[in-house]
Amino acid sequence: MLNFLKRTRDSKKSSDTAISAKDDIMKGTIPSHIAIIMDGNGRWANKRSLPRMAGHHEGMKVVRKITKLANELGVQALTLYAFSTENWKRPKIEVDFLMKLPEEFLATYLPELVEKNVQVRVMGDKDRLPRHTLSAVNKAIKETEKNTGLILNFALNYGSRTEIIQAIKKIADDAKEHKLNIDQIDESVLSDYLMTNALQDPDLLIRTSGEIRLSNFMLWQLAYTELWFTDVLWPDFKEVDFLQAIADYQQRGRRFGGI
Ligand code: IPE
Ligand code: IPE
Ligand code: MG
Repeated sequence: MLNFLKRTRDSKKSSDTAISAKDDIMKGTIPSHIAIIMDGNGRWANKRSLPRMAGHHEGMKVVRKITKLANELGVQALTLYAFSTENWKRPKIEVDFLMKLPEEFLATYLPELVEKNVQVRVMGDKDRLPRHTLSAVNKAIKETEKNTGLILNFALNYGSRTEIIQAIKKIADDAKEHKLNIDQIDESVLSDYLMTNALQDPDLLIRTSGEIRLSNFMLWQLAYTELWFTDVLWPDFKEVDFLQAIADYQQRGRRFGGI
């Protein structure tokens, strides 16, 4: 089945293949939490002599497709790296565009997310987000808070090192105020102070575009996550690629240090 998926990813039949592969994959263990570093939008646009924004826009459609599939597969949480704390270094015009994308995405797809029982969440430093971005995401969080299906968790102005520092500061404050005893601090306490406190650690991390690095994404949470890299650029990422990542995950032997 795996080779079958590989051969057909570029063919017109790829959506038919995805449907039959999906049934097979659903017989195996579905990762509960999948995290994705959605990379390669700029290169996708460059290859077509288009502005980088065209790549970001195309990437948004892929978010919709993969969210829908993850929900159908019964994935519990899908965390998508949408904007890092380092991405502010980009030209203002690109940052402004990226900050408008959540609004556009939600204006188009929020009714569908509500209908499909998806819960929208956002993690990251919200203080620096423009007001229009924040109000769009807050509306989506509110409108989907009673849903019980897939958690669609956008990492927006997220950086793992900032997250860890914030957690340490809060722990220190709570210790000072005697809400927490220093001897109590263990892995689970630190996890509770992170932005992912309501989620279990990712089982599978996908990064597109051929870069083999984490770029400050979930450094604590990825300690035992299965990593899966592909050269496919995010706007080209298809259902068959997502299914391939899960099929490969299902072949891995997770030992967590045991035997
Ligand atoms: C990922 O695509 C999207 C964001 C980081 C916001 P890039 O914009 O990084 O695309 P490349 O890596 O330059 O091709
Ligand atoms: C990581 O991609 C951040 C997101 C996908 C949002 P980058 O394109 O910013 O990462 P680097 O700079 O190549 O490491
Ligand atoms: Mg990139």
